[in-house]
Amino acid sequence: MVRLSEMTPDKRVNEHALRVAPPAVRLRQSPPQTEASEAVLRAAGVTISYGDFAAVRNVTLDIPDRRVTAIIGPSGCGKSTLLRAMNRMNDFIPSMSIRGTLSYRGEDIHGARCDAVDLRRRIGMVFQKPNPFPKTIFKNVAWGAQINGYRGDIHDLVESALRQAALWDEVKDKLHKSAYALSGGQQQRLCIARAIALQPDVLLMDEPCSALDPIATARIEELIDQLRSQFTVILVTHNMQQAARVSDLTAFMYMGELVEFDDTDTIFTNPNEQRTQDYITGRFG
Ligand SMILES: Nc1ncnc2c1ncn2[C@@H]1O[C@H](COP(=O)(O)OP(=O)(O)O)[C@@H](O)[C@H]1O
Ligand SMILES: [Mg+2]
Repeated sequence: MVRLSEMTPDKRVNEHALRVAPPAVRLRQSPPQTEASEAVLRAAGVTISYGDFAAVRNVTLDIPDRRVTAIIGPSGCGKSTLLRAMNRMNDFIPSMSIRGTLSYRGEDIHGARCDAVDLRRRIGMVFQKPNPFPKTIFKNVAWGAQINGYRGDIHDLVESALRQAALWDEVKDKLHKSAYALSGGQQQRLCIARAIALQPDVLLMDEPCSALDPIATARIEELIDQLRSQFTVILVTHNMQQAARVSDLTAFMYMGELVEFDDTDTIFTNPNEQRTQDYITGRFG
């Protein structure tokens, strides 16, 4: 059997794509936990409501630094609501209210000292459907940094962000072509490059592969695997195999509650809660 690392990139992707289908959950090797990970984001008793409907109820969890944390659970259980709260994207929904405390590196994100725009620069977001701007590839990546008054060499920044997003080789000869000329998977990596160009600390990803085919999905999963050394990644996914493949920790939510949060291998092999067991074995969801 040929080892993955010995295969050409395209074969690796195909091999990886083949693994998307079977139900058997594969676990990635967790990195050695050498130093104690500091909590980057901390939710304490967080309840988030739309009008009087509580979509997230009394959630307490610590998101560790430089790890990939997956949030799984059936549709409508509050995954996106919780994720969007972390960089205050829910502020744009008039009926939304939040109770409890969410802190980012020790600072209450709703406190007087926290500026939501600055928070969103530190905590970037990638959405379900790739949403590049109707601009060139170059401008998509450069724009955010430029309006933030970036003083370094913008070409270097664009190249570095595109390299980190594993897209540079595919686009280096067409930087000034429209982003819309790219495939869906490339557009999603462009959106990741756009987020990276702001030099964030945390990347929130809300089902970033759900609009992509299996090969493009495999590319994004490989990318997430590489990003973990530089960023804290929080990944919402309804795909349990994906959570098992790419995350270090997994949070299982059900009907607005955080049922269980633990190492990914514990969640998928030996969960504490019956509801987690039922969900991962496909009894509901
Ligand atoms: N803007 C909104 N206004 C009112 N209800 C919402 C809004 N967004 C989500 N909800 C409701 O909140 C619950 C959780 O939604 P969501 O966080 O999107 O779940 P998930 O991402 O797990 O599918 C659902 O019942 C959904 O209908
Ligand atoms: Mg969602």
